[in-house]
Amino acid sequence: MSIEKEKVLSGAIIGCGSRGMMAFGESISKRKDARIVALCDPNRVRLEHAACQLSDTPHSYTSLDEMLKQEELDFAVITSPDCWHESNAVAALDCGVNVLIDKPLATTVSGCQNIITAAKKAGKTAMIGFNLRHHAVLKRLKQLVSDGVIGKVFLIENREFYDGGRTYMSRWNRFYSQSGGLWIHKGSHDFDVFNWLLDFPKPVKVSAFAGIDALRPEGIPFEVKPGTQVGPTCSRCAYRNICPDVYNIENIDESSWSSQAAEQDGYEKDVCLYTSEKDTHDNGIAIVEYENGVKASHLECFVTSYTDRLYTLVGDRGQLEASLHDRRIIVRPRWSQEVVTYDIPEESGGHGGADPGLVDTFIRVVKGELENSSTTEHGMWSTAIGQAAELSRRENRMIKVKELFDN
Ligand SMILES: NC(=O)c1ccc[n+]([C@@H]2O[C@H](COP(=O)([O-])OP(=O)(O)OC[C@H]3O[C@@H](n4cnc5c(N)ncnc54)[C@H](O)[C@@H]3O)[C@@H](O)[C@H]2O)c1
Repeated sequence: MSIEKEKVLSGAIIGCGSRGMMAFGESISKRKDARIVALCDPNRVRLEHAACQLSDTPHSYTSLDEMLKQEELDFAVITSPDCWHESNAVAALDCGVNVLIDKPLATTVSGCQNIITAAKKAGKTAMIGFNLRHHAVLKRLKQLVSDGVIGKVFLIENREFYDGGRTYMSRWNRFYSQSGGLWIHKGSHDFDVFNWLLDFPKPVKVSAFAGIDALRPEGIPFEVKPGTQVGPTCSRCAYRNICPDVYNIENIDESSWSSQAAEQDGYEKDVCLYTSEKDTHDNGIAIVEYENGVKASHLECFVTSYTDRLYTLVGDRGQLEASLHDRRIIVRPRWSQEVVTYDIPEESGGHGGADPGLVDTFIRVVKGELENSSTTEHGMWSTAIGQAAELSRRENRMIKVKELFDN
């Protein structure tokens, strides 16, 4: 499985949108030990734009099968919409290509199981892109928990406020059929952080409550004139000059999200947050119980003006609190008033410095320098919690995670 040390790895990006190019394309191209030789995206306009962004002048493909037939790849990074992760990963693995699949691994437990089977059969690396594990604040938090600073953990909580999450209501993420719903698309990050901090006990029960309470027609934050409709996109909306949530697509990225790109697949990135059709939530709370009795609660809210993840962990020796935004961890020992504060230095790169760490780890795993510690099994367990949360919300009942594995 290990590749000669001096070899420059040849890789591809499958799904050349924002994440594929910004988090992976650019940073892999800057490395000496890896390069991007091929790009694959069904949208020709986005594909051409992506190719121009890289210095490696990669080959471009609208067909994955064709790319896998033509190219000799050591690895592929999968950053297509979530519903395509399973088929793209299985196709690449079946051709003997190592894969990094951005989160979520797949939108269902059974999809994750198919990827696990394909990776075993191929004998190749399949790594899940849980970049939060590479965030300096969370790495320190994990170290403190592992060092036993708060003893045996029995309670864990995360509250996520994400300003950028409102844009989910404009894109494919808003459809259950494409993202698996936001408990999977977004929550899979957070459920993995719980699993990872706790050293992977099995989740057994999940309940979730969620709703769309602000980003719907009743929440339009300005007066609507009779006969003048809101939307359907910001660029075509009569109220774009007064809407506080206007998305100025022309300032963001001309070619990838241009009308020519949208003409090919109907994917417009500035669909109105309020009037868009959607079947997901803009806020919710999910609670999880693990086999070892640990209780976890995850709140996610995309109706906010700032972005943070705030953690609290309680153990039988003390309490830990962390803020990713403030890059601060506070330790409160149980029998002392001596609070310890850690301020974690800024790191460069996307997601507070987490993305470069993810890229570097993946390349080193493919080169055989590191063990893969973000496995497809880990991906499956976070999807399992997300799928159970989605089911709980829809069926208004507590879900035993085992149910998802019985079929
Ligand atoms: N880890 C993180 O922090 C993080 C952050 C953002 C997105 N993501 C993940 O990255 C992935 C991409 O998200 P994004 O925001 O870049 O989306 P995007 O819409 O910007 O890009 C998706 C691209 O995939 C292409 N595509 C559509 N169908 C495809 C298919 N069948 N095969 C290959 N490509 C296809 C689209 O044309 C588009 O160019 C998602 O899985 C998302 O969950 C992860």
